[in-house]
Amino acid sequence: MFRIVHTRQISDAVFEMGVEAPRIARKAKAGQFLMVRVAEGGERIPLTFSDWSAEEDWIRFIYMRVGKTTHQLSHLSVGDELADVVGPLGTPTHVEGVGRVAVIGGGVGAAVAYPVARAMSAAGARVTVILGARNAELLVLEDELRALPGVTVNVVTDDGSAGEKGLVTAPLKRLCEAGALDHAFAVGPAIMMKFCAATTAEFGVPTTVSLNPIMVDGTGMCGACRVTIGDQIRFGCVDGPDFDGHLVNWEELMSRQRVYVDDERVADADYQRECSCHK
Ligand SMILES: Cc1cc2nc3c(=O)[nH]c(=O)nc-3n(C[C@H](O)[C@H](O)[C@H](O)COP(=O)(O)OP(=O)(O)OC[C@H]3O[C@@H](n4cnc5c(N)ncnc54)[C@H](O)[C@@H]3O)c2cc1C
Ligand code: FES
Repeated sequence: MFRIVHTRQISDAVFEMGVEAPRIARKAKAGQFLMVRVAEGGERIPLTFSDWSAEEDWIRFIYMRVGKTTHQLSHLSVGDELADVVGPLGTPTHVEGVGRVAVIGGGVGAAVAYPVARAMSAAGARVTVILGARNAELLVLEDELRALPGVTVNVVTDDGSAGEKGLVTAPLKRLCEAGALDHAFAVGPAIMMKFCAATTAEFGVPTTVSLNPIMVDGTGMCGACRVTIGDQIRFGCVDGPDFDGHLVNWEELMSRQRVYVDDERVADADYQRECSCHK
């Protein structure tokens, strides 16, 4: 069992949770993820490290409440326990020698962008963060990103309620046009990553994306997270989650992400009927 040592509600549907996990905290690296099971018999869901402390024995993740399991998580408090937390899983993000890099975080993807920007900056990169969300309320970790030494932050919202009005691809394109980028890293909804990769491809800027296919075991055994990268089949959980954004088969990824939508809707509706917070 893993004891919860921190919780924070960041916005209406976005939460941060810290868990006591000394062995995981000692090994965590930027871009890696965890498989979390709230209770015995529940499903395992992948969530990315947003922070960790090997000295204080904790790890943190930020999650958006979208369905049954994330809803269950949002009801837990400090002192409660999670049944399982397995990690660190996946290949760490490559942070050495990326030069002038744009780190693009869309929505809750900022939870991944934060440790990646921090690690790239610590490794000597010149980092420009492009932080995007539908509106100001949904921006995640803006203050923490602005506090990183030597990191520039551009905020973009769909409705213009904070920063520039528009999509993250606008400032990304400007950086490309100015010849100011050696690399880009994007994490967020698949459609956002797809258009970031299409933007940088025009300018030949190498682009890494952190993919979020459906994952079941997270250990390379079940095949649920299969993705096509160029002419290769890869498993997101062990070969990724980072891949070359210019080679991802985006249509396949997005269609496979929708495979369980009907079951997820039923599970969430059942849970909401039973859950006291809806009565
Ligand atoms: C490597 C990786 C890292 C991720 N990191 C984060 C993170 O840091 N914060 C965050 O909020 N979300 C993250 N996600 C997505 C997160 O796993 C889903 O939001 C979560 O599983 C939803 O579960 P649910 O029961 O609440 O919702 P459901 O109603 O079951 O699903 C809602 C949507 O979440 C996605 N999803 C559901 N189950 C899975 C699964 N087993 N694997 C992958 N996606 C799933 C699907 O798109 C689905 O339509 C990550 C996904 C991956 C693959
Ligand atoms: S989640 Fe099962 S193989 Fe990747």
